[in-house]
Amino acid sequence: MKNIVGKFFFVLCMALLLSCPAPSAYAKDLSGDLEIFSWWAGDEGPALNALIELYEKQNPKVKIINATVTGGSGVNAKAVLKTRMLGGEPPDSFQVHAGQELIGTWVEAERMENLASLFKDEGWLDAFPKGLVKLIGTDKGIWSVPVNIHRSNVCWYIPANLKKWGIEVPKTWDDFFAVAPKLKAKGIVPLALAQNWTANHLWESVALASLGPDKWDALWSGKLAFDSPEGIRAWELFGKVLEYTNDDASSLSWQQATDMVVDGKAAFNIMGDWAAGYLNTTKKLAPVTGFGWAPSPGTGGEFIFLADSFGLPKGSPHKDNALAWLRLLGSKEGSDAFNPLKGSISARVDSDLSKYNDYAKSAAKDFGKDRIVGSLAHGVTANEGFMNDFASVMEMFLKSKNAAVTGKAAQQVATKNKIGR
Ligand code: GAL
Repeated sequence: MKNIVGKFFFVLCMALLLSCPAPSAYAKDLSGDLEIFSWWAGDEGPALNALIELYEKQNPKVKIINATVTGGSGVNAKAVLKTRMLGGEPPDSFQVHAGQELIGTWVEAERMENLASLFKDEGWLDAFPKGLVKLIGTDKGIWSVPVNIHRSNVCWYIPANLKKWGIEVPKTWDDFFAVAPKLKAKGIVPLALAQNWTANHLWESVALASLGPDKWDALWSGKLAFDSPEGIRAWELFGKVLEYTNDDASSLSWQQATDMVVDGKAAFNIMGDWAAGYLNTTKKLAPVTGFGWAPSPGTGGEFIFLADSFGLPKGSPHKDNALAWLRLLGSKEGSDAFNPLKGSISARVDSDLSKYNDYAKSAAKDFGKDRIVGSLAHGVTANEGFMNDFASVMEMFLKSKNAAVTGKAAQQVATKNKIGR
């Protein structure tokens, strides 16, 4: 009898323990530091600052260290993060893309804390789309909190400039090739490009147009080889597109390439919709009238998606403060303060669209009806090992413009980094 009561008591305690939030998740009256690590510096900062302000209001005794390392798409930040993580000096919380950048890199290396109980306590399993939760989870847990949904395949332009030049937004790459020589003849760069990561960014839009969404997905599931005839054709098309970009691309930031469009030096730019944040929040241009957008040529009805998220690394020095940060990021209030400034839409299904501008409203509509595929350049489809190697493959292509050799090299790094396995 004593034994049965003992067993019952044990089971009851376990049940209570499992159903209760982790004690630190509800720690009150927090103090000390909170170091947040990201690449949202300078022009990329306003949305992050809105979150920081909210956090400071909720936790006035916590001192936030906003550790940013400049460089679009985290080109520099990710290297610094790696050094810190491997050196045993993780920040309290860091920016990481949902998908393979998180799972195939940090989760696989067992460097992240499991946030499954936080998701359960906050009711987030229903607040975020199931597909997104899958991208930040494994059978062992959930590993980060998504803050947004960005679209990668967007073509930006200034309506007044197009009117002045008498040109339309190209729906396909053939449309683009029809107008590009005319623009060039007027001394206008048809397509603005920046440093090398933006070439990867452009490549994914071009490759999607060339392959179509099923074959794009097949590249990442390992069912289609990069050196297949279709894979090589994508590089050929990319090479043709590059003929209409600016020569000084490698020395420009993505904002400077966007500026070329704003200043009328270039007609179009293909960039993620953080450009909408930049054009609206920083450049004070109104969507529709001040700046325009369309799916990148040949990708109408398709949405290359990515999501920024923040995780809790093992050994985070101020775990309670970091958990409060993550709770704010995942909340409706946090999300709807951050995203209207960022150019992204909320990752939550219940966001208040009245707080968003016309660009974001159109992105939300497309996200609800388009075919969704993952971004390579922003961490969804491949781990960091592949992304780093792919950057070298891209370097090689930018110099050689040899599609067949590049397709082979891309397949080699895909095999090396176990893409699709
Ligand atoms: C992406 C990131 C965006 C934006 C962009 C440019 O990788 O997801 O939020 O910061 O880089 O830096």
